[in-house]
Amino acid sequence: MGIISGQRFKVILPDSRLNELISYIYAVRSAILTASLKRVDMKRIVSVNLGNLVLSLSDAMDLASPLLSQHQQRTAFIVWELGKIAKLSDERMENNFIAALLHDVGALSLEEKIAIHNSEFEYTDKHCIQGERLLNKVPWLEGTAKIIRFHHKKWQDWNESIETPLVLDSQLLFLGDHIERSINRNQYILHQHEDIISKITSLSGSSLHPQIVDLFSIASNREEFWLDLVSPRLYSLLLNEGPFRKTEIEFSNITLIAELFRNIIDFRSRFTATHSSGVAAAASILSRIFGLTEMETKLLEVAGNLHDIGKLAIPNSILDKPGKLTKEEMAVMKSHTYYTYAVINTIGGIKHIAEWAAYHHERLDGSGYPFHCKADDLSTGARILGVADIFTALAEDRPYRKGMSREGIVQILKQFSEGQLLDKKIINVLFENYDEIFSYVTEKQSVAREFYEKQVAL
Ligand SMILES: [Fe+2]
Ligand SMILES: [Fe+2]
Ligand SMILES: [Fe+2]
Ligand SMILES: [Fe+2]
Repeated sequence: MGIISGQRFKVILPDSRLNELISYIYAVRSAILTASLKRVDMKRIVSVNLGNLVLSLSDAMDLASPLLSQHQQRTAFIVWELGKIAKLSDERMENNFIAALLHDVGALSLEEKIAIHNSEFEYTDKHCIQGERLLNKVPWLEGTAKIIRFHHKKWQDWNESIETPLVLDSQLLFLGDHIERSINRNQYILHQHEDIISKITSLSGSSLHPQIVDLFSIASNREEFWLDLVSPRLYSLLLNEGPFRKTEIEFSNITLIAELFRNIIDFRSRFTATHSSGVAAAASILSRIFGLTEMETKLLEVAGNLHDIGKLAIPNSILDKPGKLTKEEMAVMKSHTYYTYAVINTIGGIKHIAEWAAYHHERLDGSGYPFHCKADDLSTGARILGVADIFTALAEDRPYRKGMSREGIVQILKQFSEGQLLDKKIINVLFENYDEIFSYVTEKQSVAREFYEKQVAL
């Protein structure tokens, strides 16, 4: 016999019932403990270093051509060096640095990026306006959006004084970008740096404020400046010594950054303008119905938003081709998920998101690409994303065909399921909840389409 008492009660129980109750209390306690451990683990899993995140995404944007490789990182290095000489505050320095790392975010196609890169001054404002609009969607990046808006504005076109922070910051970025584009990548840097210095000096008082050119004269004196600038190890220099004030980034900001990059990926082509939005929505609703946890569902949404980030390395001529790809073009296309993996994995701390995102063209029998994973390598998250990608793609218009009807989609997915290429259980969940899933995905895609039409299609 045992007695259990609280402030307002007293219960007398036989021993058998008491033991039952004690084991129940232990079971509840351990469930609470496990749950809190899981929460802690999940927090650890999604803890991401800010520097690595911004650098990795900046690097991804410049993957598309050797001509552009590290363009934004090099620009950021120059802005940072000049900011040090100008003794900018830590906060302003970080802001300018991140702005430089993302400054051409509004140039959506590879072709546009190359045209801007090769032009002396004949640029268009388009990528500056688009960049500002895209970054304004992330409250944490609003300060950088304004600098990006004016990164091609010449000094003579400003009416404000150089003491105005926005003017100085934009002029620093103007200079960094201009120097980087002046470098001949086929020539040793110390055989050309004097020419670059004279070219920049000649812009003093017209495109550049003399104070900005003075800062550059101090920095450019040292060979070290030039050697660091073109060093293949620049990424780790910027990561380890760059002006990042805080290191950890909250999960809500990771979600917003994933949405920003989703837009950069999708808006490259009218046909894919809402593709990743659709995949993220399909992955998240499938995950929820399938019974994954709320956190796993959120992470799968991030993976869905980023699954095609490797397409930043693919030219628009292939992405938008109004017909079947040739063998050579397909070989280029197959690299996109390889880059998706590399970019997300480089961010660090979210390897599982990298795998879910990058395995969406893998098939259970090993016939997918480019990793040729087999069933055992493909986790539930990766399988959900594989189904979400193909479901969304079949429903969308493409340059070579119209979006398919429900019957057509079901028929194709059945073939994938019966051929044991995609997960049968997930496809069945999709069939059983088709209307709910279809309307959820369509709703999310129409929100993305509205933003695309209003804000970006200038
Ligand atoms: Fe630019
Ligand atoms: Fe640029
Ligand atoms: Fe893909
Ligand atoms: Fe896709």
